[in-house]
Parts: sequence; C-alpha cells; structure tokens
Amino acid sequence: MWVLGIESSCDETAAAVINNGKIYSNVIASQIKFHSQYGGVVPEIASRKHIEAVYVVIKQALNDAGVTLQEIEGIAVTRGPGLVGSLLIGLSTAKALAYALNIPLVGVNHIEGHIVAAFLAEDTPSFPFVALVVSGGHTNIYLVNNYHSFQLLGQTRDDAAGEAFDKGANLLNLGYPGGVVIDRIARDGNPNKVAFPRAMKDSNDLSFSGLKTSLLTMLKKQGRSFSSKELPDIVASYQEAIVDALMEKTIKAAKDNSISRIVVCGGVAANSRLREKFAKETSLRNIDLFIPPVILCTDNAAMIAAIGEIMLKDGRRDLLDLNAVSRWPLG
Ligand code: KG4
Ligand code: ZN
Repeated sequence: MWVLGIESSCDETAAAVINNGKIYSNVIASQIKFHSQYGGVVPEIASRKHIEAVYVVIKQALNDAGVTLQEIEGIAVTRGPGLVGSLLIGLSTAKALAYALNIPLVGVNHIEGHIVAAFLAEDTPSFPFVALVVSGGHTNIYLVNNYHSFQLLGQTRDDAAGEAFDKGANLLNLGYPGGVVIDRIARDGNPNKVAFPRAMKDSNDLSFSGLKTSLLTMLKKQGRSFSSKELPDIVASYQEAIVDALMEKTIKAAKDNSISRIVVCGGVAANSRLREKFAKETSLRNIDLFIPPVILCTDNAAMIAAIGEIMLKDGRRDLLDLNAVSRWPLG
C-alpha cells in the first residue's frame, strides 16, 4: 500500500513514502537554525516554519519515491504528542489531502512511530521486546507485546534525557541542540573524570534534574572558568551519567520481565556513546539489541508512514474531525 507519512510534532517538517514497510523516500526539513539563537524550540516560530515547508517537503517525498499524489492510497500523520500549533499544520494538510484524494487517513502517536522505526532497519526485532524511547520530550521504557500493546515499565520523573543533554549544553554555552555537540566533544574526554550523580538507583523510573543541578553547582563553584582541556572531561562525564542511567534501567526492565530483546529509539538513540555502551552491555548479557540508523532515530516521517501502513491495513480509519493532542500517553 502506498502510504504518505507527515510529521510536524516539534521542529522538523517531514514527509515520507512507504510501501509494504519499505522506505521509498524520507525527507526532513530541520528548523534548527531558526530556534538555535533562542536556546530551544519557540512554538510560534515552529508553526510558521511548518506552514512554509510542508508542501515543499511532501512534493519532494513524492518526487524521490517516483510516485504521484494520485497513486497514494493512504495518509498517516502525527496526531500527538507534541506542540499543538506544530501538529495542526501536518494534521490539517493530511486531512485536506485525504479529503481531496478521497483516501483513508490515520492519526499516529509519535512515540509509537519512534518504536516502529526499529522495523525499518535491516535487522528487525520480534515481539515481545523492551523499548526505551528516549528523545527531547520523552524518556519512557515499555514492554511491547505487539503493534498495539504497550505497557509502561518506567519513565522519567522530571526532565527527558534529551532535555538533560540540551540543558547541560546550554549551561556550558555549547549551543542548541546540545545532544549532538555533547556527543562530539565527549569523544575527546574522560567519562570517569567527574563523578556526576546517578539518581533513583533502586527505582524503575529515572530522573535527570539532579544531574543538571549538579553541573550547575560545579560551574558556580568553579566560576565557569575551566580550561578547554577540562571541557571534554566534564562533557564526557555528564554524558556518561545520562547513558548509564538509561542503560541500567532498560536492562533491569528487560531482566525483571524475562525479555531478551531491547529496542532503543528516539533522538537520543543517535548518541554514539549510548550506542557503544548498550551494544557492549547487552552482548555481555545475551540480550539482542536493535537501534535504528541515526536518520530513523531523530524525528522523521518514515516511522509515521510505517505505523500508519500497519494501521490502515488493519482497517483503522480516522475521520476528518480528528484533532491534535499535546499529551497522548501510549498504552
Ligand atoms: O526524537 P527527537 O528528534 O525529537 C523529539 O521527539 O524530541 O529528539 C531530539 C532530542 C534532542 O534533545 C537532541 O539534543 C537529542 O535528541 N539528540 C541527541 C543526539 N542527537 C539528537 N542526544 C545525544 N546525542 C546525540 N547524538
Ligand atoms: Zn521524536
């Protein structure tokens, strides 16, 4: 089934074409340069930029896939969670196209999309598995029994891991978004140099606000004057604390539920240290690890089209009064 996916939940306008779980195109227009001067996503700017980009991105996705709009048989769009103003741009476009073309429409949960991205990789997981969804807005651990069954096993009590990366980078004046910059600088640092705290050791949940405060306290003590040689050590240690917490809690969740497959997805799953440590620790424990390629970890529409195709083939249909939802817990 030719499915057009549209994603606009935050600061990426994306469109993709999928058929039978295979990606034919995956176009992403990033708004980072418009938000970076503010140190984070400005919702009003995001909505406006989505309006400017959405048709261009869809046209490009159709061109890249070599299909016409008339050949599209169904439309999948991110309905939530996310910024309502941003979501509405993709949703209104999807509804207009579905109406004009007289084809089915389905609204998709963005978190579910991140998880289903694992099925677009070469090596795909079988059910059941434990999924860590780790992004700028979410840090959730699920037991996934099938495409429709998600049981929340743990989650952050405060900041998402991506937020911890972005806020840490902000405190260190490294720019936005911080995850990529921290990932790069940390490669030259010693991850054991600074003993940052690992919170909530005995819980299934996570917490990152103490880590951020700990960095702030350290910087205040040092008067923010550290040498350029010290920066990689601080950054690598900060990143290590985030990665360790994510890894320990996810492996614990798998162990507690006797599951031997782990999926890690979402923007933070692009982190090179996370990928390296998860690979090492899971192989030591005979757990099969599935992390999508980086382009499918950060926000994209291929993951939305992929879960959309599954839902549409299952007969799921949404009506044209479908609305955007800022909060939409899975399961
Ligand atoms: O999934 P995503 O693109 O958007 C959301 O749904 O939030 O995730 C964005 C988050 C940002 O916080 C960004 O800093 C983080 O993913 N991120 C990374 C890396 N690349 C993106 N964090 C750590 N290391 C990376 N390489
Ligand atoms: Zn996302």
